[in-house]
Amino acid sequence: LQTDVAIVGAGPAGLMLAHLLHVAGIDSVVIDNRSHDDIATTHRAGILEAASVRMLETPGIDSRVHTAGHRHDGIDIRVDGISHPLHFPDLVGESVWLYPQNEIFVDLAAARARTGRPTFHSVTDTRLSAIDSESPSVHAVTEDGEQLTITARYVVGADGSRGPSRASIPDSTRQRYFHEYPFAWFGILCEAPPSHEVLVYSRSPRGFALISQRSESVQRMYFQTPPGTDAADWSDDRIWSELQARVAGPDGFELKTGPIIDKTVLPFRSAVTEPMQHGSLFLAGDSAHTVPPTGAKGLNLAFADVAVLAPALIAALRDADAEALAGYSQTAVARVWKAQNFSYQMTRMLHTDETADPFETKRSLGELRSILGSEHGRRYLAECYTGWPQG
Ligand code: DHB
Repeated sequence: LQTDVAIVGAGPAGLMLAHLLHVAGIDSVVIDNRSHDDIATTHRAGILEAASVRMLETPGIDSRVHTAGHRHDGIDIRVDGISHPLHFPDLVGESVWLYPQNEIFVDLAAARARTGRPTFHSVTDTRLSAIDSESPSVHAVTEDGEQLTITARYVVGADGSRGPSRASIPDSTRQRYFHEYPFAWFGILCEAPPSHEVLVYSRSPRGFALISQRSESVQRMYFQTPPGTDAADWSDDRIWSELQARVAGPDGFELKTGPIIDKTVLPFRSAVTEPMQHGSLFLAGDSAHTVPPTGAKGLNLAFADVAVLAPALIAALRDADAEALAGYSQTAVARVWKAQNFSYQMTRMLHTDETADPFETKRSLGELRSILGSEHGRRYLAECYTGWPQG
């Protein structure tokens, strides 16, 4: 197959890029090692920055973000049982949207299908070649066992943190920055009404808890656990009493409980690969960077990459102007580090670290109180949470 842009990865980043290119008359072929249903049923974060929502409003996507999603004008940060509401429109004139990542995927996959251009799912043995040249290729074996070779002018690696694209950049020309945390999250989906109007981020002596939502009848909640926690060790009763203990306070806040329909333990790490490009290959989203889940920056960061990369590819392919493309990594990576800092800071301020000395526990509480106790601090937090300009 011959195309303009070969896109490795049919998650939200790869499919959003494919759509923006299509709208500009640029062809692409997309492949993914997962099946459509596999991606559609993997539960990820659910908070969208306003700029990500605007990308979903691109003609032809017909996203359900405004019908099935919910605008959220703030969050509540609980510190040892005391509520600290933040109102984003008052603080920074912005809002965020609750709309789960797997629903975004369903919207984008449907939009892709309507363009009639190919997406190959469940491929194996994906390999990139000749990325130093002006006609790089992507090779894979299709679900039917046929050898697939896609030759393109550019290749985009949007294949997540474990995909093969990043490793195609020679070791000697890339650097990987990595940070590990002594935390994991236990995530549940449950059948219950919402416990609060907005998301609740709670710091408590027992550890962090996040009360999020999905719909009127399904809720998403998380609590900090040590890495290596086995979901099977946690009965529903034990989960509910731990979650409740971590949000309890003098205001009598009580979680609305119900049957737990999904239990997952999420790993925690930060990583950045620089540069995010080499020759004719460009990385976007988790293939180049991973953030811990606190603050829900992962998908928003992937969309911000695409917001820079799509116009740069269009300028190069349609107008023979490759200047923006040459500067892609430099532009994207500046925002990546802002999100890394915010995700790290939120994680450190809200979790309790049993491996750290008591000084760190008190210091991080002091940091949280400094921010929440100041108008400037609340504005800073609201600005980070609602997102920085994309380019
Ligand atoms: C969700 C996940 C997050 O990590 C977060 O910060 C907010 C919401 C979620 O899954 O709803």
